[in-house]
Amino acid sequence: MYQIIDGKKISQEIKDELREKVTALKAEGKDICLAVIQVGSDPASSVYVGNKKKACAYIGIESLAYELPEETTQDELLALVRRLNGDDKVNGILVQLPLPKHIDENAVIQTISPEKDVDGFNEKNVGALCVGSKGFVSCTPLGIIQLLKRSGVEISGKHCVVIGRSNIVGKPMSLLLLRENGTVTICHSRTQNLKEITKQADILIAAVGKPKFVDDTFIKEGAVVIDVGIHRNENNKLCGDVDFEKAAPHTSAITPVPGGVGPMTIAMLMYNCVSSVE
Ligand code: GUN
Repeated sequence: MYQIIDGKKISQEIKDELREKVTALKAEGKDICLAVIQVGSDPASSVYVGNKKKACAYIGIESLAYELPEETTQDELLALVRRLNGDDKVNGILVQLPLPKHIDENAVIQTISPEKDVDGFNEKNVGALCVGSKGFVSCTPLGIIQLLKRSGVEISGKHCVVIGRSNIVGKPMSLLLLRENGTVTICHSRTQNLKEITKQADILIAAVGKPKFVDDTFIKEGAVVIDVGIHRNENNKLCGDVDFEKAAPHTSAITPVPGGVGPMTIAMLMYNCVSSVE
C-alpha cells in the first residue's frame, strides 16, 4: 500500500510553527510586512494572491495588496518595486507571475531587492542557492523538500529525477535535491528515452506542465512521486502532471492534486517572509 503525502496537513503544521514564531517576533517589536503585487486580473492569479493574503493574516504577517490594471506600464511597475525596495516597513515583495506580455518579467524580478525577494527568483538568490550560501529559495521546491523530509523520505544517495527545467521549479528543485545529497538527473522536452530515465528514479518530481503526463509506465516499483502540476480537466476537476489512478499503486508514496504540493508553496512563502526578519 502506498502513502499519500498530505500537503494540506504538513503545510498547516508549518503555518502553525510560523504563527508561534511571529508572535515571539512581535513581542520583540519586530513586525513583518509582505507587499503583494498583481498586474491584471488573471483569475488563477487572483486565487493565488487571495490565498497568500489569507495565509499572511493567519500567521500574523501584514500584507499590502497592490492590484494594478492590465495597462500598467513596465516603468510604472518598476517604480513601485523601487519604492517598496526603499520602504523600511516592507520586508518582502512578491510580484505575481505571469505578468502581461508587454512587461519583461525578468526586468521586474531583477529589480526586486535580493533582501526582499521572498520568491527567491532574483539572480543573487538563485546564485546563492547554486554555491550553497544563504538566500531566499523558490517556494515550491523548498516546500517539496519539506514534504519529503516530514514524510520520512530519505533523499541522501537516492536517484532523484526532475522532469522540467523552469527557473521557478525544475532548476531550483534540482539544486535543492543536490544540496540534500541526492543524485540528480534533470529531464526536459528534448530528453531522449525519457521513460528509461524516469524508471531509474527513487524520487520522481513531475514539473512538466502537461495534465496526467506521467503514468505507471514512467515509474519504478516503489518510487516516491511528487506532482507539481495543477490543471483543470474537461469537467472542471483539478488534476496534476501525474495520472494518479494509474501511478499511485506502483509508488511507495505520492502527492495528490489538489492537497499535495500546492498548499506547501504558500507555507514556504510564509517561511521566507519570517526568515527575512529573523
Ligand atoms: N506564479 C506561479 N507561481 C508563482 C510563484 O511561486 N511566485 C510568483 N510570484 N508567481 C507565481
